[in-house]
Amino acid sequence: MDSIRITGGVPLTGTIAISGAKNAALPLMACGLLTDERLTLTNVAKLADLATMSDLLAQHGIAVEPDGRNTSLGGRITNTEAPYDIVRKMRASILVLGPLLARVGEARVSLPGGCAIGTRPVDLHLKGLEAMGAKISLDGGYIDASAPHGLKGADFVFPFVSVGATENLLMAASLADGITTLKNAAREPEITDLATCLTAMGAKIEGIGTDTLVVEGVKSLHGATHAILPDRIETGTYACAAAITGGDIFLENARASDLGAVLTSLREAGVVITEAENGFRVTRANGLHGVDVMTEPFPGFPTDMQAQFMALMAVAQGASMITETIFENRFMHVPELNRMGAKVNVHGSSAIIRGVPKLSGAPVMATDLRASFSLVLAALAAEGETTIARVYHLDRGYESVEQKLAGCGARIERVH
Ligand code: EPZ
Repeated sequence: MDSIRITGGVPLTGTIAISGAKNAALPLMACGLLTDERLTLTNVAKLADLATMSDLLAQHGIAVEPDGRNTSLGGRITNTEAPYDIVRKMRASILVLGPLLARVGEARVSLPGGCAIGTRPVDLHLKGLEAMGAKISLDGGYIDASAPHGLKGADFVFPFVSVGATENLLMAASLADGITTLKNAAREPEITDLATCLTAMGAKIEGIGTDTLVVEGVKSLHGATHAILPDRIETGTYACAAAITGGDIFLENARASDLGAVLTSLREAGVVITEAENGFRVTRANGLHGVDVMTEPFPGFPTDMQAQFMALMAVAQGASMITETIFENRFMHVPELNRMGAKVNVHGSSAIIRGVPKLSGAPVMATDLRASFSLVLAALAAEGETTIARVYHLDRGYESVEQKLAGCGARIERVH
């Protein structure tokens, strides 16, 4: 298993090109199930999770053909079962449920089960599809869903915000008979990207970018070409890399408007963001200050930036409190950060961070995607050498980490 070795203490300077967003690409690839025509996605990052989605789609009969930064999807659905072997690797596999059901009236999708960051049920996905007329039962660890006469438009109010359930229902509603209204829908930029692509495929969606999506189902969707938006979490992560090392990085292609509360919190912590036409520059005026944050659905502070922001707060002046409200077990980076000299205490869903002047390198273990990068950030700022084991977590969602960081002067290498 690969690890990453970092010798810290170098202020990072240079340009980092932000890749296409992983969490937009996953549902966009699932849109390949919604049409017989060719769907071409551009600005596609090379990531392990996208390779898993390709495998899943391939066994449904959809050929996924990468060509540099483009990926084209096409083919007929030949199999409606999403097997445990693939779903267990990646929970986002559940995103094939709505499209399969809407398109061919049946799907058998393995239940994803829990994962390191929490139990993560899929009940809202199922309730929403049931409201649209699907018959759903659970059998042998699988979701058996059918809609022999097609899905029907429905009014569905999400009891709380779910990104994945909003995406599944949006895709399903595009091909349902009649009008579907989704209230309290997620407003993440990835949902807007999905709605934009569906519209290009012929879907009729109103309220894009708001928490009420009104979808008038159409008989069929056609092919389209869609450019995936830049990854806002990768953007925020590298902004933290500039800030924690006291460096100066230009984040090319980054969209400040997609960062929501992350920009506000970074600025409050003393980070200087200078917007330009094709991205923004991140520097630090003086020292970093402790800032309290609470994770929330967009445009609030994203749970996917919580671990990275904690690494930053670990070396800020003063104390800060980070409250995680989305997932119940997303503080696994805390003991590892503490091994590097951070002072973090967890009380229930909140972590109190007392900033220290210096972290020190240590052998640490990555536990999930974002937690892994919080350790990379800590290592970049630490005195001495850090080895991060289990970096396959990083490869799931960050493209060319070593190349991007080394390009800005980081002393980083992958150890096989
Ligand atoms: C998406 O996961 C992202 N994944 C996650 O990114 C991200 O952390 C999360 O949204 C929150 O922003 C993708 O986009 C592929 P949710 P998702 O449904 O859709 C509960 C990363 O690091 N819930 O918005 O699975 C759930 O347990 C990953 O890139 C139910 O109870 O998240 C959680 O507490 C990790 N029932 C909350 O809702 C349901 O049916 C929000 O989850 C669905 C969700």
